[in-house]
Amino acid sequence: MGMQKNLNFSAAPIGVFDSGVGGISVLKHLRALMPHEDLIYVADSKFAPYGNQTPAFIRARSFYLAEFLINQGVKALVVACNTATAAAVADLRERYSDLLIIGMEPALKPAVAATKTGVVGVLATSGTLKSVQFAALLEHYGQGVQVVTQACIGLVECVEKGELADASTVALLRQYVQPLLDANADTIVLGCTHYPFLKPLIEQLAGGSVVLVDTGDAVAKHLKSRLQESQLLSASDVAGNVSFWSNINAVGTEKVISALWGNPVSVAQLT
Ligand code: DGL
Repeated sequence: MGMQKNLNFSAAPIGVFDSGVGGISVLKHLRALMPHEDLIYVADSKFAPYGNQTPAFIRARSFYLAEFLINQGVKALVVACNTATAAAVADLRERYSDLLIIGMEPALKPAVAATKTGVVGVLATSGTLKSVQFAALLEHYGQGVQVVTQACIGLVECVEKGELADASTVALLRQYVQPLLDANADTIVLGCTHYPFLKPLIEQLAGGSVVLVDTGDAVAKHLKSRLQESQLLSASDVAGNVSFWSNINAVGTEKVISALWGNPVSVAQLT
């Protein structure tokens, strides 16, 4: 796979994908930290949620999306999905060994550092929680504290529909947050990129003293330093383009994506 690295490769866009619209929470951090970069976001919403799919299926989707973004000439790829990172990032790195690929995993390390009660809660998809990568993360950072995990079936779907504060979302979330509070968790890891959009609601349910940790900011910082290292940061001084692609009904998804992004955007159809 010969990646074209001409002199202007630093002007190439950054590609970002997720099972759906959740990775927009990461995209916001990328935009804030690197406003001059062009960003291409791909939502695989037709196949969301990934959380209940097999790793083989998620890998196949990840290759498809990565291929699409590489054909757009991206200089770096962000897997803005914990579930897809666990299932596919190693294979992606093997196949596209020339490309800078950034994945993400639940922010267990900072959460363990932050807890005072010694109990950390983790909200994630069952795919992430069942992965060997998560087991390794627990083994590595979870020593000396109690880590209570909670798979949040159905929560990704709420965000996909843009239902960030609906009664059904509140009911579902209460059911997932309460066991963590009962276990005396004072720090909760948002281990899925869809969940930061539910932060206000989680804060409301968990009460003000519980700290919520997610990975978006760390991923943006990590990508920036890797681009810098490779002299791939854009030299532009004007605001970069942000373009959105999705493979479901353009009208409905445009509304949801615009709301999550915080600005009206048009969404191109991914076939
Ligand atoms: N945003 C994905 C993640 O970070 C959600 C996965 C899913 O679609 O279930 O895990």
